[in-house]
Amino acid sequence: MNIYASIFNNHFKINENVRRKRKQWRSREWFAPEDRKLGFIHRSWLRNQGYPDDYFTDRPVIGICNTWSELTPCNGHLRDLAEYVKKGIIEAGGFPLEFPVTSMGETLMRPTAMLFRNLSSMDVEECIRAYPMDGVVLMTGCDKTTPATVMGASSVDLPTLVVPGGPMLNGRYRGELIGSGTFVWKLKNKLENENFSQEELTEAEICSARSAGHCMTMGTASTMACMVEALGLTLPGAAAIPAVDTRKKVMAQLSGRRIVEMVKEDLKLSRILTRQAFENAIVVNAAVGGSTNFIIHLQAIAGRIGVELALPDFDKIGSHIPLLVNLMPSGKFLMEDFFYAGGLPAVVQEIKSHLHQDAITVNGRSVVENSATAVCYNREVIASIEQPFQAEAGIAVLYGNLCENGAVIKPSAATPSLMVHRGKAVVFETIEEYHEHIDDPDLDIDENSIIVLKGVGPVGYPGMAEVGNVDLPLKVLKKGITDMVRISDGRMSGTAFGTVVLHVSPESAIGGNLALVHQGDMIELDVPNRRLHLEVSAEELAARRAAWIAPEPHATRGYLSLYVNHVQQAHLGADMDFMVGKSGSVVKRDVH
Ligand code: FES
Repeated sequence: MNIYASIFNNHFKINENVRRKRKQWRSREWFAPEDRKLGFIHRSWLRNQGYPDDYFTDRPVIGICNTWSELTPCNGHLRDLAEYVKKGIIEAGGFPLEFPVTSMGETLMRPTAMLFRNLSSMDVEECIRAYPMDGVVLMTGCDKTTPATVMGASSVDLPTLVVPGGPMLNGRYRGELIGSGTFVWKLKNKLENENFSQEELTEAEICSARSAGHCMTMGTASTMACMVEALGLTLPGAAAIPAVDTRKKVMAQLSGRRIVEMVKEDLKLSRILTRQAFENAIVVNAAVGGSTNFIIHLQAIAGRIGVELALPDFDKIGSHIPLLVNLMPSGKFLMEDFFYAGGLPAVVQEIKSHLHQDAITVNGRSVVENSATAVCYNREVIASIEQPFQAEAGIAVLYGNLCENGAVIKPSAATPSLMVHRGKAVVFETIEEYHEHIDDPDLDIDENSIIVLKGVGPVGYPGMAEVGNVDLPLKVLKKGITDMVRISDGRMSGTAFGTVVLHVSPESAIGGNLALVHQGDMIELDVPNRRLHLEVSAEELAARRAAWIAPEPHATRGYLSLYVNHVQQAHLGADMDFMVGKSGSVVKRDVH
């Protein structure tokens, strides 16, 4: 017998007793040595990466689902971070296997990263289901990578833990804080009114992205990181740790250790993602001033795991919660400051009376228990509940004949004086038409007008682009005015701000009443009464509807065609209709 065969045989003998005792993990179906032929195939090829025999016999397999990509700059460090997760998994007796999934970089993908969230979620789901995994760690960062991976994992429902990649360090430009994204939305005004030079622009570009990590404002990526922590899917305090802080590596390593224990405890995603956990996430999102994108993503995740969550729930549960976190775009600080001030546990400590105390997290304890000893170190960044930055935050859900299935607005990022406003519609049928005409000196528009943008919804764009916060016209900006009411069926970047009504449903491309708005129609916005009304009679609307011609479909083949034919409307979370729910982890047929 040659030396290698002898070593392996000895291992089989040593491990025989252990095998009898071990739990029947899912991966055993692949690696159980009793099945000579298939067991051989499943093990043998993996051995080419140099794993000892006990990895196949005594260790649960932990998939590390990595959204690393050099084209997703916010996730560019996740390959390195995954090594720390692996270290923790091995320390705890697991067998880590890292795999790549479709990654969505917000800043580079055309026409919009959101178009691919559902595609990535399918990729994640089928990878987890198809491969021999007992538990999964999701490595996330840029906006869509978090909901996509959680949606996919929810449809399989194994023990799952999220490691958020963390925000970039604070941007600082000539002594001032410069927030990723938020600065960009002020650029047109700066270029027009502050004589901002090309040289200054280049310098600002460098200053606003000075380390690895995702946007460091309370944009969608930070919102998503807070969301998964509030849902209970991360170890406590994970969301705010900057990407380059050594504590991020420690968090990754501890997460690796913990997922192995979760597999042993059979702590599945569905035991954590309960209705109570979703309600907690809504409360936390209001307190941190999170992005409006939170709604769409949380609903899509709820749909996958099988929890009822309707658009009005966000208003009912969140809108009376005070704003405690003073971060851009609603406030003035950035995620690094938030981390130093105590991060999410310090917020949870303040709002614990509004949270369900028995919704468990990945460590088996509730978010409230996990935050019991949290301390706030800077009241300028995280306010107390007694003296919040704003008495009511959250997201307001509007209804009316312009949005029969709902629309949303983020009051904390809006101008208070515009929350009740009546104005004349200035309509753009497409985003291209907007760009072409918004600065036309002859355009009949002033600060009291309401900008109506059509064709940017899930079907219309396609992919529901983040263009709802379109820039104001130059002739208004020149007066020193920085906000106007804007209405669209699109989304807005979480880093953006303004009195912006978003997610109008049904969208214009499928014939929602938004499609029927004409130039000069009067529109009434009344946020306190949750109303968005087009002042056009039912008869006139019916006549316009009869004359309305649906836009040509964007695609007749490929993923795009699948997407536009199956994507649901914004008020349902914009998931594909056939992806709602879960298929579980059982795959009956084997490889051969
Ligand atoms: Fe990736 Fe903002 S662009 S998080």
